[in-house]
Amino acid sequence: MVDAVIDAIAVITTKRDGGTLSDRQIDWMVDGFTRGTVSDEQMSALAMAILLRGMGAGEIAAWTEAMVHSGRRASYPGLTRPTVDKHSTGGVGDKITLVLTPLVAACGAAVPQLSGRGLGHTGGTLDKLEAIPGWRADLTGNRIRENLLDPRVSAVICAAGADLAPADRKLYALRDVTGTVESIPMIAASIMSKKIAEGTAALVLDVKVGSGAFLPGLDSARELAATMIDLGRAAGVRTSALLTDMDQPLGRAVGNALEVAEAVEVLAGGGPTDVVELTLALADEMLLAAGLDHVDPRDVLRDGRAMDRWRAVIASADGDPDAPLPTARHTEEVLAPEDGVLTALDAKLVGLAAGRLGAGRAAQGDPVSAGAGVVCHIAPGAAVRRGQPVATLYADDADRLPAGRVTFAEAMRIGPPGHAARVAGPLIIERMAADGPSA
Ligand code: URA
Repeated sequence: MVDAVIDAIAVITTKRDGGTLSDRQIDWMVDGFTRGTVSDEQMSALAMAILLRGMGAGEIAAWTEAMVHSGRRASYPGLTRPTVDKHSTGGVGDKITLVLTPLVAACGAAVPQLSGRGLGHTGGTLDKLEAIPGWRADLTGNRIRENLLDPRVSAVICAAGADLAPADRKLYALRDVTGTVESIPMIAASIMSKKIAEGTAALVLDVKVGSGAFLPGLDSARELAATMIDLGRAAGVRTSALLTDMDQPLGRAVGNALEVAEAVEVLAGGGPTDVVELTLALADEMLLAAGLDHVDPRDVLRDGRAMDRWRAVIASADGDPDAPLPTARHTEEVLAPEDGVLTALDAKLVGLAAGRLGAGRAAQGDPVSAGAGVVCHIAPGAAVRRGQPVATLYADDADRLPAGRVTFAEAMRIGPPGHAARVAGPLIIERMAADGPSA
């Protein structure tokens, strides 16, 4: 039988008109786009059609599989420890990976944490770690394997190589400039194709809910988590999710070196309580997924083993854990304009303020400043007096301070004295796993 000829226009119009794409059509489009025979214009049109029309479960599974098959699926022969990874859908002040990866490795797992860079208002793990003198994100496949197999390290945080899900790399860049990021099927396939290709056996998702999340609503977060859990199950990756609050920044620091410093505080046994709480909840979940739930991560954090492992993980990527972190050239305090109560600190706007101060990038490939960002001194719900410092802004370039100041002022809401702050919900909203949500 002669195969029916597939053409890109027919695929685009099928989805535009609300039809269902076949596995063959999906494979053909993703493969052609990766090799350059399907043009950026055609893929953009299809991405918009998918955003508007959605995809069924079978289409999302085929799309994810096609993206995994656009490159290689890593494996780690000789590794005896169970592999487990965590992925966050992106937040503000989210330095959890920095603490969690060495912590879970010190508990007995191997953690292949292939991470990304920040874009828009969210920060990226690689940008944060690059604030550490000498540290490099671009480890070779051999080096990744060596570090995972080395029992003193057993973790790697680095950039995904060009051969892992290359279709996603190309498609994400296109979605970013065509208003097609906010599609649950495409976000789920994008995240899961990279995690399946990285070769982890188990995965815990931190799906953010609130103003600082890609998809702020709880229903969208639930749908995204359920879609990713299904994709994980289909690919043989044990996957569960915590839905967590991202209405306000995590911890006090937002910015690259500033967040590394806060992560080190947590590893040393201190740090903000929300960062500690979320790290331990995710560690519990990862250890359960890895079959290591007899180990209590609280002990490993408390007795310094997590800190020792952090030093080994950083050194294994050429970083110097003892070198002083870069500091910004300019600082400015943000003072409370009146007496009252800090009723909210909007996560997205704080992230944008940090970005405008130089911590983030407006477009892929832009440089970021290691020292720039924001440190918040007051948490929502606390009383403030006129003139009291609410935050400190950090910038290398003094010209960036006005934009950071204006955006931070928009993030900060002060109600009259005695005014009750909007009651913050729980940090950990819900757990979801293949067998359904649980408290
Ligand atoms: N993060 C990803 O890796 N992909 C998306 O599509 C959105 C967030």
